[in-house]
Amino acid sequence: MKAPESLLSVRDLNISLGGQHLVRSVDLDIEAGQCLALVGESGSGKSLTALSLMRLLPRSAKISQQYILFEGQSLAAYSEAQWRQLRARRIAMIFQNPMTAMNPTMRVGQQIAEVLCLHAGVSRREANRQAVALLERLGIVNAAQKARQYPFEMSGGMLQRAVIAMAIACKPALLIADEPTTALDATVQAEVLVLLRELCNEQNMGLLLITHDLGVVRRMAQKVAVMYAGKLVETGAISRVFNTPAHPYTQALKQAMPSLTEQRDSLMAIPGTPPDLSKPIAGCAFAARCPQAMNVCARQQPADYLTAPEQHAKCWLWDPARTKAS
Ligand SMILES: Nc1ncnc2c1ncn2[C@@H]1O[C@H](COP(=O)(O)OP(=O)(O)OP(=O)(O)O)[C@@H](O)[C@H]1O
Ligand SMILES: [Mg+2]
Repeated sequence: MKAPESLLSVRDLNISLGGQHLVRSVDLDIEAGQCLALVGESGSGKSLTALSLMRLLPRSAKISQQYILFEGQSLAAYSEAQWRQLRARRIAMIFQNPMTAMNPTMRVGQQIAEVLCLHAGVSRREANRQAVALLERLGIVNAAQKARQYPFEMSGGMLQRAVIAMAIACKPALLIADEPTTALDATVQAEVLVLLRELCNEQNMGLLLITHDLGVVRRMAQKVAVMYAGKLVETGAISRVFNTPAHPYTQALKQAMPSLTEQRDSLMAIPGTPPDLSKPIAGCAFAARCPQAMNVCARQQPADYLTAPEQHAKCWLWDPARTKAS
C-alpha cells in the first residue's frame, strides 16, 4: 500500500484572542485523500483552529506556530495576496454559518459559476452548466431552476448544499468542513457525506471535518483529533480512539454518546465546565472534571504519550514513570 501523502502539517499552533489563550500548542496532520475529524465540546477551539488554516481569524487574534506546511510549501511567510490565491484554488472551507459564505444579492447558481469562471478558467456558459451539475450532485432536484434563486429564497438545508457546491467547485486539495451537515435532515446528510467521501477518493482531496456527531466521525474519518479547552488531548486512528479511548475526556465523550449510530448532540453531557482560558493553566485542563485525576494532573502539563500504535494522549495516566503516590 502507498504511504499516505502529507497535505497539511501544522506544529505548535497557538491562537490568542481577547486575552484568552484559546488554541494551545496544536499539531495537525492531514493526508491527501483522507479525512481527519476534529471533535470536542462547544467552545473548545475547533472553528478557530479551522479558520487559522485559511488565515481568516478575527483581526485582533494573535497566531503563532512553529511551522505550517501545505503541499510541501511553508505558508508562514505568505502575503495576504498569496493567502487569497490559496483560498481560491487549493483550500476551501464550508463555514459553520452557511449564510456568511453567500452573497445575498446574487443568484445562487451565478455565485457558484463565478467561482468556476475565476478559478477553473472555464467560459461563462460552461460555468453555468457545471454549477447546475454540482447542485444536482448535491441532490437538489430541479437544480437548473434552483440555481436561479437568491439565497433568501432557499431553505436552510438547500442553502447549505449550495454552499457545499460552491466550496467544492474549484476542486480544492483540502476541504475544511465545519459542521457541514448539521442543518440537513438525515437523508440529505447521508447523501452529502457520501459525496464528500467520493471527493476524497476521486480527487485525492484531504478533508478536515469538524462535527459534534461521533456517528459521522466513525463513518467518514480515518483519524480523529479530540480537542479540549484549546488543546488536542487525544489523536489517532478512528478504531483505536473509539474502541479504546486513552484520555479520560475521550472516555467521557464516548459515554456521553453511548450509541454512535444515534444522531444527537450530547457532547455537553459531561459534568462540570471547561476552565477559564484567560488565566494560565498549570496542569491538564481537564483535571478538575476528570474522574481519574491525580495530584500531579493539576500541577503539571502531561506530555504527549504514545498509548498504542497510531494513538496518542496527553494524560499522566500514560506516563511510564508514574507512581501511585504522584
Ligand atoms: N471573534 C471572537 N472573539 C472573541 N472570542 C472568540 C471569537 N471567536 C471565538 N471566540 C472564543 O474562542 C473559543 C473557541 O471558539 P470556537 O468557535 O473555535 O469553538 P468551537 O469549538 O468551534 O465551538 P462550537 O462547537 O460551538 O462551534 C470560545 O470560547 C469562543 O467564545
Ligand atoms: Mg465552531
